[in-house]
Amino acid sequence: MPNRRSVLALGAVAGGMLATAKVSTEIVARWPGGANPRLSPAAAGALAAPPPFSVPLPIPRDLRPIATVAGVDIFRTDITPATVEILPAVRTRALTFGGQFVGPTIRARTGRPALVQFVNRLDMAANVHLHGGHVAAENDGFPTDVIDPGHSRWYTYPNSQPGATLWYHDHAHGMESEDVYRGLHGFYLLEDDAERGLQLPRGEFDVPILLRDAAFAADGSLDYASFERPFLLANGRPQPFFRVAARKYRLRLLNAGNTRVLRLTLGDGATMTQVGSDGGLLPAPVARTEIVLASAERQDVVVDFARFPLGSQVVLRDATAGPVLRFDVVRQAADPSRVPAVLRPLPPAPAATVTRDVTMSFDLTRQMPVGMLNGHVFDPNRVDFTVKRGSTEIWRIGNGDPPGFDHTFHMHMTHFRVLDRDGARPTADDAGLKDTIYVPAGARNVRVQATFPNHTGRYVYHCHFLEHSAAGMMGVIEIVP
Ligand code: C2O
Ligand code: CU
Ligand code: CU
Repeated sequence: MPNRRSVLALGAVAGGMLATAKVSTEIVARWPGGANPRLSPAAAGALAAPPPFSVPLPIPRDLRPIATVAGVDIFRTDITPATVEILPAVRTRALTFGGQFVGPTIRARTGRPALVQFVNRLDMAANVHLHGGHVAAENDGFPTDVIDPGHSRWYTYPNSQPGATLWYHDHAHGMESEDVYRGLHGFYLLEDDAERGLQLPRGEFDVPILLRDAAFAADGSLDYASFERPFLLANGRPQPFFRVAARKYRLRLLNAGNTRVLRLTLGDGATMTQVGSDGGLLPAPVARTEIVLASAERQDVVVDFARFPLGSQVVLRDATAGPVLRFDVVRQAADPSRVPAVLRPLPPAPAATVTRDVTMSFDLTRQMPVGMLNGHVFDPNRVDFTVKRGSTEIWRIGNGDPPGFDHTFHMHMTHFRVLDRDGARPTADDAGLKDTIYVPAGARNVRVQATFPNHTGRYVYHCHFLEHSAAGMMGVIEIVP
């Protein structure tokens, strides 16, 4: 169940509507970005949008290891409140990793474990989940496994999976929605040797871009209860510009918005060459002109700015929010990078021995919306599925809500491949190894296949629209030997 603070936040959302029986339907229907994403700068609430493209795109700094011991990189950062600048010249109080609204980027290598100490300087419990990481249960940020205020905790990340664009965020029980909204999100970029050998764009030409929406109150604070989140931020700034060289860049696009689906296009339908998704590289590059990212999904694309004349301005646009980020092609540069025709084959998919069904829905009969999986509200003490370690399973995911209610599905500890959607082929956005997928209204049977290697213990799976997961749309698997 959501805890007191999140219920209060929802209560504020509900406002004076509590008298009607249909209230939870209305709340969900009007939830930020939920059933009907509304995002119009004109309706920007108390604070007006700055002129577009007036601030540069920040690149979150890398977290430097404080030590390397026996081949293990050791990192430390704080979970701390901080005053940050999101809107130009407006001070915003945020919850941050390392004092930055987009936390510091942790760079790790496959085969080289990392130990990260997180020091909780908040006045409330928090924790850390490495989204997409294959880690032991005690390091996964189970919702009730939190760091108390004033305490710290070491998380061990074995980095035994292939390179991938991962991210880390809070996962505290009932609070993940508000905490991530207030800024507890950052990148974790895992690279493997084979990937390095491919000569994809590297270094300053390999750019993580965290996209998320936000609303601001008149005093500049992040407004969590607002029905509309009119600002779409790129690395924590509204509609920034980014000066690029006329060469290839790898853009690692992450939708870190709580409850939002992004439909991204570049310029006038320019091609983005997709090379990776949630679990890392695709088998081969795919030419894309529109990318759909539901909450928590990632896609890595390579864009060759040499195709645009020097002086060009190339705008990344979202179908709902409009312009998101402008690339200004300002200089020539040598380009030793390439996009090979073969990237990384997917691992073999053993035959599945178990089939499970998961239906995602709200209990719309209650006054406050309650999220459910297979009719049950999340209970951290209840095991919903017991899974045998090493086994392969097919999960059939359905959206059990009426038209207008979208969901997403995320599984911890492993990646899966999408087999089909209601009998039809998966979408282009389902390609590769996935940990999160879009389950829009009407989707009844999205089949995914996963293998559960290595670890045992309890992990969660949930809708990654975090308002939904915090309201109970989450379940527990226990992996047993
Ligand atoms: Cu990014 Cu359990 O989630
Ligand atoms: Cu996760
Ligand atoms: Cu949902």
